Amino acid sequence: MCRLKRHLPRVGCDSDQWYELRWNFLLYMSTRGEGSLAISPASPPARRLVDLRSPPGLPLFGNFHQLLKFTELHKHLENWEAELGDVFTIRMLSKQILVTSDPKLADIALHERPEVFRRISTIETVADEMELNGLFSVEGTAWSRQRNLILHALGPSQLPEFFPTLQKITERLRVRWQKIAESVGVTDVVEDLTRYTVDVTASLSFGQDVNTLEHEEDAVQRHLALIFPKLTSRIFVPPYWHYMKLPSDRRLDRSLAEIKRHVQQLIDNARADLQAQGNVPKNLLQVMLKAAAEPESGITDKDVSANVLTLLLAGEDTTAHALAWTLFFLSQRPDLRAVLQAEASKLLGDATIAPDYETTSQLALFDGAAFEALRFKPVTPLIGLEANQDFVLGDIFVPAGTQVFLCSRPAMMDDIYFKNAKEFDPGRWSRRSDSFASRQAFTQFGGGPRVCPGRSLAIREIRMVLSMLCRNFSFELAGDPSKVREIFSFTMKPSSVPLHLSMLH
Ligand code: HEM
Repeated sequence: MCRLKRHLPRVGCDSDQWYELRWNFLLYMSTRGEGSLAISPASPPARRLVDLRSPPGLPLFGNFHQLLKFTELHKHLENWEAELGDVFTIRMLSKQILVTSDPKLADIALHERPEVFRRISTIETVADEMELNGLFSVEGTAWSRQRNLILHALGPSQLPEFFPTLQKITERLRVRWQKIAESVGVTDVVEDLTRYTVDVTASLSFGQDVNTLEHEEDAVQRHLALIFPKLTSRIFVPPYWHYMKLPSDRRLDRSLAEIKRHVQQLIDNARADLQAQGNVPKNLLQVMLKAAAEPESGITDKDVSANVLTLLLAGEDTTAHALAWTLFFLSQRPDLRAVLQAEASKLLGDATIAPDYETTSQLALFDGAAFEALRFKPVTPLIGLEANQDFVLGDIFVPAGTQVFLCSRPAMMDDIYFKNAKEFDPGRWSRRSDSFASRQAFTQFGGGPRVCPGRSLAIREIRMVLSMLCRNFSFELAGDPSKVREIFSFTMKPSSVPLHLSMLH
């Protein structure tokens, strides 16, 4: 595109003339096989961003002031979607952003990475400033190097090896819940499940048993809980913290310093262990350290540290919140609980948790429940992308630099994509009668080359926890379901899910 820009004098045109001129030039270049425009000359004329509908906003601010409450960003976009349709634009100060809930457009954009689309560039800038620029935010060749390492380490072939660790930590969660059932009776499972996923991710990725499930005062989790929301809000606002720090920015600095100290300790220990093991790595951190030590690897110590934090952040909230939302639904549905309890008894027999890896392969009904929860309450309701180059998405001309928000819930709740979409039906995922269209509409793990590398692990965690809960406990929601709010902070979590637990006999 830089080459094209050099050819195009941008003088004496109003914006419509400029658009026509640029469009015709791009068409001309594409007929010669040059330029970056992914269309053929026979394509119908594309719609421009200014041709799309938009919610009313203020001069200069656009819709910025309506989105200041970031914890509800996804809901604002969904409300506008209901009014304006599956493609529209919003304006944040001077930036025009394309928003779409059309699964076909989302699928194209997700698959056209890393060349045509990237993650929103401010994610990388903000993550880099916080020294968190790992696999999730990094782009280009650094991304492909890190992706190969992490994909292999978290892939399905590694899962049988993870099983004893999953078993140990699931048993800890069972004991924690048993103590609660035998004492106070009520617990906020959002917190319990976050402890569970921190323990699993830290053990599997870095070989460190942080055991937050058994130790009440947990620094790691407290600091992580602060970093995520702040990272999210900084992506969307001008960098005021370069000039003036609010109390929340100072708290963030303290948490980052603490957590980095902890990560450095992890790295030092892993390096010493790796040496003692004759340079044979036993966990993902050691794999990264070994790779970083290779002269041509291009992986630095800073990348290793950023990925330790990235994995903790990416693996923790997503899985914990998916589980918490699942329990929110199941705790109000005695009929579904009875089906799952019967399934757990059948498959686990006398055991209190899945006794071996093979058993976890048969627990698909449990992730059916989780996938339904993700459809109704998506933990990743938005994926933000940015065009690296001019592109025609469907029939929309997306200029280089445009941000594109993919908004997942509307299609997942639409009968076009899911038969009887308003029905919470875990069985639909094992019947597999749902079409290609519904698989395309379910983007909870993303799609294309950057699809979530932790999804197989997340599914095993979900199966272990739900089958353990259904095998040992009866549970129902302690409180009013309408009081449970959706909070968006990168992932979308429930404000709390208080469960009344009692032992099954
Ligand atoms: C229910 C649980 C989970 C959900 C819903 C989820 C969802 C997602 C989504 C939507 C993306 C963006 C994908 C895209 O851009 O196409 C993503 C990326 C990622 N996830 Fe997950 N995730 C989950 C669990 C995990 C776990 C357990 C880990 C690791 C321990 C993990 C690690 C990552 C990483 C490293 C990326 C960045 C991949 C890249 O950019 O190449 N996730 N996840």
